[in-house]
Amino acid sequence: MPDLTTRIGNLTMRSPVMLASGTVGYGPEYEGIIDFGVTGAIVTKTITLKLREGNAPPRLVETHGGLLNAIGLENVGLERFLAEKLREAARLGVPVVASVAGTSPEEFGQLAAAVGERDEVAAIELNISCPNVERPRNPVWSDPAAVTEIVSAARAATSKTLSLKLSPNTSDILSVAEAAERAGADALTVANTLPGMRIDIKRRRPALGNTTGGLSGAALMPVNLALVWKVAGHVSIPVIGSGGLADTGDALEFLAAGAAAVQVGTALFANPAAPAEIVKGLETYMEENNLASMDELIGMAREERRICTETT
Ligand SMILES: Cc1cc2nc3c(=O)[nH]c(=O)nc-3n(C[C@H](O)[C@H](O)[C@H](O)COP(=O)(O)O)c2cc1C
Repeated sequence: MPDLTTRIGNLTMRSPVMLASGTVGYGPEYEGIIDFGVTGAIVTKTITLKLREGNAPPRLVETHGGLLNAIGLENVGLERFLAEKLREAARLGVPVVASVAGTSPEEFGQLAAAVGERDEVAAIELNISCPNVERPRNPVWSDPAAVTEIVSAARAATSKTLSLKLSPNTSDILSVAEAAERAGADALTVANTLPGMRIDIKRRRPALGNTTGGLSGAALMPVNLALVWKVAGHVSIPVIGSGGLADTGDALEFLAAGAAAVQVGTALFANPAAPAEIVKGLETYMEENNLASMDELIGMAREERRICTETT
């Protein structure tokens, strides 16, 4: 049997297939629907220091090949997450990655310290890339100096594995990735959603209460795949791929581009069996191609890997 064990910093997963933040709540909501037994890890809904009620409805609208969401980081807040949600998630028997978002480096540090000291938390994802909250002219996700401060604050607060979730909505993702690596991130999640909108012609209004939302699903896949390719070729920390993954073929493309693990999100709404199907599909692919471990799969489409495999 091929070995699908995947390591991201100190996080060891039985497979490279993770569940993306915000698409499975805190986990238990999907008990009996998703097969957690094969899942690598669950990334819980992003939490903030204080509870957030999120944006005005409608918050979801379908579009060609995808979904627009403008949830606005609705969450129970740090206190209730620590008191209830985390314990419930840990009972699922799958590593829990806690996603957190602060409004300043200090807040990121506070959140990382609070979730980092809990045994139930296997790793932390720092979400700097939600497009549906405040809309600053110069968002942190495009600003290497701000990213340095955020990652440094979180790094000083915890020794748990830290992944920074980048945005595809930036012209220079490599500078941001580099800054995160230098400041001590153990991994990069590439990437979040892209801003978009639809108009409801009947109401003559934007379809989403927030006007714009984040585009996820199949339409996003080639965009984020290209970013994974770029980032994985530039940094030496692992990259976790996210964006429109729906089946084994999509997962193989992200892994071949250099992702060490992948996250499934929007696809779960149409097919909650997708993670289990992808794990099975990866096993079959590895068996058929005589690949024994994830190391042989990761980056297999990259020229540097091809030269390496052709000459050894
Ligand atoms: C309804 C919904 C809610 C989301 N909430 C969050 C969130 O709280 N934190 C976060 O980092 N990403 C959030 N995301 C982004 C996903 O985690 C994922 O990165 C993105 O949707 C791209 O992957 P996908 O096309 O497989 O969904 C959300 C996505 C959707 C569709």
